Amino acid sequence: MAPRSAASPAEQSPAGRLLAWYDVHRRTLPWRAAPGAPAPDPYAVWLSEVMLQQTTVAAVKPYFARFLDRWPTVTALAAADDADVMAAWAGLGYYARARNLIACARAVAGEHDGTFPDTEEGLRALPGLGAYTAAAVAAIAFGRRAVVVDANVERVVSRLFAVEQPLPAARPELRRLADSITPEARAGDFAQAMMDLGATICTPRGPACALCPLSPDCAARAACTQEDYPRKAAKRDKPVRRGTIFWLEAEGHVLLRRREPKGMLGGMRALPSGSWEASDPSLADAPLAADWRPLGGGRHVFTHFALDYAVVGTVVADRSAEGEWWPIDRLDEAGLPTLFARAAAIAISQRESA
Ligand code: ADE
Repeated sequence: MAPRSAASPAEQSPAGRLLAWYDVHRRTLPWRAAPGAPAPDPYAVWLSEVMLQQTTVAAVKPYFARFLDRWPTVTALAAADDADVMAAWAGLGYYARARNLIACARAVAGEHDGTFPDTEEGLRALPGLGAYTAAAVAAIAFGRRAVVVDANVERVVSRLFAVEQPLPAARPELRRLADSITPEARAGDFAQAMMDLGATICTPRGPACALCPLSPDCAARAACTQEDYPRKAAKRDKPVRRGTIFWLEAEGHVLLRRREPKGMLGGMRALPSGSWEASDPSLADAPLAADWRPLGGGRHVFTHFALDYAVVGTVVADRSAEGEWWPIDRLDEAGLPTLFARAAAIAISQRESA
């Protein structure tokens, strides 16, 4: 471990300065080992890193705790029902991550005796485990030198070196520059220090440069242009699709259906809905012919498109329509993805005001 007191030669490099800062200012997070403690459980590191992709630390914390409580080992997770894992993931978004999580857990349990490979290459060979996660787990759980680049790290590096090329084309260059400052030792701490710096000091707006251990090294800071980086290519507007979501109610229950395994929100429990290709809300995909009433609607933004959805509802006399009839007063236990939880809230509020 690097010395904690100031002024060693190692601390005169950007990595040394950053690690000295991290030793004092690191965030205490549930998936991190305490300073000086043995490396954290690779399973916990992997789980947290998968959850943290595209999701904030604050949003991840309760999910991480619930997953570890319910499935304390990768072998336990591998033995879980897909549907239970998908439902436990509900609300975190980007559901392909949950499907990849299951595939990866099963490979570790089935082909590696429940032990994660301890190199970046070995990890990368697992199904559903991408380049970012392999680097992060290799560095954080196994102390391997690996170059870990997430959006926070991209921002820090782009400012440090005043990288003019815009994202996303700049990614290979940002990675090369991150590699150039990654130390041999403490690569896991270095990666997490970069993330903490990006999250708490080198923020997108109003970076706190006066507190930054890298400010002596920072090209953007020298030119007072910090907020101009990372440069970004102009964003195209997302396409807008339209769809109808059906609230079919009978005897205090609502009809749910599991979505096709492939495709958006695949494998998740959901309210019935059409293909989302229609140019106008339509009743073509209704679970049955009935007097459907408009209940409201909204816009839900996915990664590659926005969905303008209409919610329509009706009450029928019995539960003969095919699907899973779920008690309305326990709908919060169904693990609905956010889009359908919102649509259900619209339907329920209409029902209460009727
Ligand atoms: N974001 C992704 N991985 C992280 C980590 N290990 N610590 C803090 N933020 C993160």
